Amino acid sequence: MKIIKLDATPSTNSYLKQLAQERSLDDFTMVRCDHQTEGRGQKGNSWVSDKGKNLTFSILKRFEGLKVGKSFSLNCLVSLAIFDVLNTLEIPDVTIKWPNDIMSGNKKLCGILIENSLSGAYIKQSIIGIGLNVNQTDFSDLPNATSMSLASKNEYNLETMFLKILDQLAFYLDAFRSFGYNKAKESYENTLFRKDILSKFVENNGESFEGYIRGITESGLLKIERKNGIVNEYAFKEVKMVF
Ligand code: BTN
Repeated sequence: MKIIKLDATPSTNSYLKQLAQERSLDDFTMVRCDHQTEGRGQKGNSWVSDKGKNLTFSILKRFEGLKVGKSFSLNCLVSLAIFDVLNTLEIPDVTIKWPNDIMSGNKKLCGILIENSLSGAYIKQSIIGIGLNVNQTDFSDLPNATSMSLASKNEYNLETMFLKILDQLAFYLDAFRSFGYNKAKESYENTLFRKDILSKFVENNGESFEGYIRGITESGLLKIERKNGIVNEYAFKEVKMVF
């Protein structure tokens, strides 16, 4: 496993992507930095992280024979790896908010940005970017964010946390084939944020409705059951939960 440690870079995902274009990298090459200055999040959002207080890193993972339609299994495994580690550390009420935010209570603790390179119907490689809020305690501009430290009132050693997460990620990613998607999907569904709890959602067209998260489909669509019993399936950008 090769780890590249940087003081600062705009985005570890962008850095690793660029490096992978310039030369051939070993599977599981990793880039980590103390200060990410232009971190990228999902849906074109930014990811802001105080210097030296949190973990911001990216991992290159190659695949053979992983069909695009099954790529959500990777989201499940990465989310579960982080979920497992946080659960051993007495962080309260840890859940996975679909598709792959890690929450403590109603606040976001960790974001994951997975960028896939395709070859036909297959995923050739993925850059898995992880931003975990560890010891940052001021989120004045981000009311829905929290950190391990805020959630548990403890301070954490960044190195130790990094190694714990790497271990667990390596375990899940190595076991990627043998683990089987069904098992990963089941574990993922069992940890979903607000599963089976009546919640409010807004669709892209502005229509709001109430319903229950029931799980995900094979391809990672979110299944929401309305009060009338009808279950609809939503892609990532099609629906937002209001909470
Ligand atoms: C999200 O929740 O929107 C995903 C956030 C992902 C942030 C991480 S930090 C390390 C890696 N580099 C980036 O630019 N983004 C990811």
